[in-house]
Amino acid sequence: MSRGTLIDLLYLFAAFTFLLALKGLGSPKRARQGNMVAALGMLVAIVATFFRQENGQGLRHIPLMLLAMGIGTLVAVPAARFVQMTAMPQLVAIFNGVGGGAAALVSITEFIHIHSQKPATYVTLEVLLGVLIGTVSFSGSAIAYAKLQELMTGRPITYPGQQVINALFGIVSIGLIVTILISASTSLLWILLAVAFVLGIAFVLPIGGADVPVLISLLNSFTGLAVAASGFTLGSNLLIVAGTLVGASGILLTQMMSKAMGRSLANVLFSAFGSVVTASGEGAREDGRTVRSGSAEDIGVLLSYANKVVIVPGYGLAVAQAQHVVRELADELEAKGVEVFYAIHPVAGRMPGHMNVLLAEANIPYEKLKEMDEANPELQTADVALVVGANDTVNPAAKNDPSSPIYGMPIIDALAAENVVFLKRSMRPGFAGIENELLFDPKTVLLFGDAKDTLTKLVATVKNS
Ligand code: TAP
Repeated sequence: MSRGTLIDLLYLFAAFTFLLALKGLGSPKRARQGNMVAALGMLVAIVATFFRQENGQGLRHIPLMLLAMGIGTLVAVPAARFVQMTAMPQLVAIFNGVGGGAAALVSITEFIHIHSQKPATYVTLEVLLGVLIGTVSFSGSAIAYAKLQELMTGRPITYPGQQVINALFGIVSIGLIVTILISASTSLLWILLAVAFVLGIAFVLPIGGADVPVLISLLNSFTGLAVAASGFTLGSNLLIVAGTLVGASGILLTQMMSKAMGRSLANVLFSAFGSVVTASGEGAREDGRTVRSGSAEDIGVLLSYANKVVIVPGYGLAVAQAQHVVRELADELEAKGVEVFYAIHPVAGRMPGHMNVLLAEANIPYEKLKEMDEANPELQTADVALVVGANDTVNPAAKNDPSSPIYGMPIIDALAAENVVFLKRSMRPGFAGIENELLFDPKTVLLFGDAKDTLTKLVATVKNS
């Protein structure tokens, strides 16, 4: 077997592991394994690449490549190990951005290389698409990172005529690509690079901070396409396969997230959602309605004497890092014969699978996590819906109020339970910035405070009751 065939077989093996990995990542039970399988495939692909030969020549600049890989590893390993779960979206944004930027750089060097040898051909089209998409992904991801890391305002930044200006940037980019194909002008390539850079920023500015995770998934898919374009440029089947997988899965995830939020992708990208916030301070109400707040002792007793308790986790659980203590509470309740499970909304938290990952960290058995469709019928026979740091995902306005910005979003039907207990710090709204009527419902009682503290108090009360 020739060296080339062996390397192609190793690439085929790597591509196969990527497919297996995607399958694994589809279930919380096998997600970790899926990640490891993909990492193994990637390692095989990288090692094989070092032995690749082109026109009888092996790779050049190997020490430089090893140095770059060493620096990358030194940065990436601690970043991935020590990142807080709530900061995961920005980590993905920054990793994604550098992926897009790398694909754009590959395309630029290839463009220069091709044009030093022969005039423009159709081969240059994917090179130029690589430059455009990779650069948009790079600058867009950088702004997404800055928004999520609060280095700049997370609110949508809008100005008159914004959509028209953005559309013009898009049209100019396409015009430049066509002109470069005809003229083979390297100077126009630099202009394309600059326009693509500005387009990425302009595209992300009007998107509100908490919609950014959906955007990141879309940018991720752009990076996949840019990598696939690099694959065509470099004649690497593996890059084409890997890039296409990232592109396709990114776009599917984007669609799924938008659907779970009850919004179209166009609405997420172009509506500047989250610009109007109707937050009210703790307890302050102009219309005179009041909320019922309870003590940890009363609520502990309510939970202890229940038959069925459904815990509805949300973003606040992640902020409070209360996953271990929520498990402790569930254990105490189960020891008293109470049936306990968790109702998981597909967009609870700030990233896909946020609650699943968080609860898995506390070794909560997967069987206890029920998806929304499975959980909602159960809530009708539950004595208590214990809402821990969730808000929008239980807001009945999504079902009942056509004027609400979240109207149409499927929700966890906490109101169906006999009693609703909210653990949150104040009357502030959740990500959508809108009031939650459920907080004012007669069957609702609130326990104010950081979820970790209030859950710890509940554990103590349940233990003693
Ligand atoms: P949210 O509606 O954002 O509500 C979170 C609640 O947690 C807030 O009401 C907040 O109230 C409370 N909270 C924050 N820190 C807390 C702490 N330390 N202790 C106790 N409570 C705390 O959360 P959700 O119900 O999970 O909904 C997620 C939202 O994000 C949805 O609107 C969804 O569309 C959006 N979104 C999700 C995703 C994905 S993929 N998951 C992506 C983009 C957008 P206080 O401030 O009063 O404590």
